[in-house]
Formats: sequence, C-alpha cells, structure tokens
Amino acid sequence: MALIVDGRRIANRIKERVSSDLKKLASEYGIAPAMATIMIGNNEESELYFKLREKASKEVGIKSKLYRFPDDATEREIIDTILDLNKDEEIHGIMVQRPVPNHLSLFNILSKIDPDKDVEGMAPQNLGNLFLGRETIVPCTPLAILKILDHTGVKLEGANAVIINHSPIIGKPLAILLLNRNATVSVCHVFTRDLLKYTREADILVTATGTPNLIGREHVKNGSIIIDAGISKTEKGICGDVDFDGVKDKAGIITPVPGGVGPVTIACVFENLLKLYKKRVQGG
Ligand SMILES: NC(=O)c1ccc[n+]([C@@H]2O[C@H](COP(=O)([O-])OP(=O)(O)OC[C@H]3O[C@@H](n4cnc5c(N)ncnc54)[C@H](OP(=O)(O)O)[C@@H]3O)[C@@H](O)[C@H]2O)c1
Repeated sequence: MALIVDGRRIANRIKERVSSDLKKLASEYGIAPAMATIMIGNNEESELYFKLREKASKEVGIKSKLYRFPDDATEREIIDTILDLNKDEEIHGIMVQRPVPNHLSLFNILSKIDPDKDVEGMAPQNLGNLFLGRETIVPCTPLAILKILDHTGVKLEGANAVIINHSPIIGKPLAILLLNRNATVSVCHVFTRDLLKYTREADILVTATGTPNLIGREHVKNGSIIIDAGISKTEKGICGDVDFDGVKDKAGIITPVPGGVGPVTIACVFENLLKLYKKRVQGG
C-alpha cells in the first residue's frame, strides 16, 4: 500500500511559517501585506476558489482586494488596471483568476504584471530566471509539486521524472525545476505517441491533464511516486487523473485528489507573496 501524501498538512505547515514571518515583518515595518485578484466574468468555480483563498489569506494575515470585470471586458481595461496596481504601494502581489474569457490573451495580461508583484511567477522575467537556474518567484503548482517531492525525501538527482502536461503554467516550469535539480525529465502531452512507454519507466510521475482515469495500474512502475495535479468534476465528486484505487498498492507514494497538490498550491501563493512583500519592505 502506497504512502498517501497529506497535502493539507504540508499546506498548513507552509501557511503557519508564512503567517509568522509576515506578522513579524508587518509589525516591524508597519505595512499590511496585501494581494489583488483580478476576476473577469462570472464563473462559479472561480468564485468558490477565490472565496477559499480569501478566507485562507485572512488567516495567514494577507489583505485581499478583488477587482471584478464583466465577461466582455477588453484587454486594454484589464492591462490598465494591472499598470495601476503595479504602481500601488499598498499592493504586494497581483493574481489573475483563471479561466479568462476566450477573447483575452492570458499571457498578454500576465506579462504586464511587475515581476516584483508577480505572485504566480508567470511574468516573463521570473520565468526567464527559472530557465537560467536562478529561481526567484516560481509558478505555484510546480512549486507545490516540488515541495511535495521534497517532503517525500526522494533524491531528484538522476531520477527518471515524467510529466504529463506541457502548459506554461504547470508542465514547462516543472520540467525546468526538475532539470535544475538534475532529474532526467520527459514531458508528455496529447501528441505523445506511446504514453505507457514513458510512464511505466517513471520513478516520479506527475500528471495534470484533467482526464479522469488517464493513469491506471498498467502505467505505473512498482514503488514509484505518483503526483496527481489533475482536477475534474465528475458525478462522484472531484477527482484527479489517476485511478487511485487501482494504483495505490503498486505505487510507493501517491497524492490524493482532493487533499493533495491543490491545498499546497494555495499555500505556495502565500509563500510567493511573502517573498515579494519581504523584498518590497526590506528594499532587496
Ligand atoms: N492542483 C492544482 O493546484 C492545479 C492548479 C492548476 C491546474 N490544475 C489542474 O491541472 C489540469 C491542467 O491544467 P492546465 O491549466 O495546465 O490545463 P491545460 O493547459 O489544458 O493543460 C493540460 C495538459 O494536459 C495535456 N493532456 C490533456 N489530455 C491529455 C491526454 N489524454 N493525454 C496526454 N496529455 C493530455 C495537454 O496536452 P495538449 O496541450 O497537447 O493538449 C496539456 O499539456 C486541470 O485538470 C486543472 O484543473 C490543478
């Protein structure tokens, strides 16, 4: 039976540390840490996710400000707000809630965020630094996956890591993070011809596709680490990409959905905010 990673416990530990550091800095410098969220259009899941994050940020000691836009907002309107927030001394981090309506380019918008307020680590300068092995602010889900891997104690150097996702938000930055730690990395996606050939050799398998049951027992190497970042809403509730019951006695370590990567990702947003806030108040 695989060891099941308790993402909520890892997240709580990160949040406690962030909260304690933020409180010390806030009382020393007299500046309240604050994060702005840009939300475009009406999306039930985005609303829910924002509310959960807002509650958690309050607990950690971060003020949360919401900037709402209608479904038909123009890229210019959103970018103008970001440019104003970049200059706002009271805001230390800016986040754009996904998904954004199809007529907008998410990456055009994210590229306008000041790298020193880029809480999601998606500004080109921060991504470029990651590419060069200078990890500054790192995208939150890849950072969460790295923290979970650290928690397992696995040696990344020389490990055979397979990632199923090649998005700029998860797969690509995670591949670089793992390469920076000398893992051997394969990145798979819908055009990968023989997924099984890659996954069954993986010491570490990370999947984030949003396809329930994509990964079954046959895809998994004995004793491997399985990180499931996929999120799908099904009749049975929220599930990941992995057939958890089929895989759990073959893998060595596995993350559940829910309660795995998700909560750690939210904690990593706060950790990034702490870094940005610290740099701002200490003038680094
Ligand atoms: N746990 C968390 O904190 C967290 C955070 C963000 C997102 N997520 C979840 O992670 C998933 C991916 O999010 P995203 O924003 O990266 O989405 P995305 O841009 O749609 O990426 C999905 C990736 O999976 C690949 N893919 C999809 N179906 C596949 C299949 N059958 N076989 C092989 N590859 C397949 C896609 O390949 P192509 O690009 O070639 O189509 C793409 O690279 C979603 O379920 C999302 O809800 C979780």
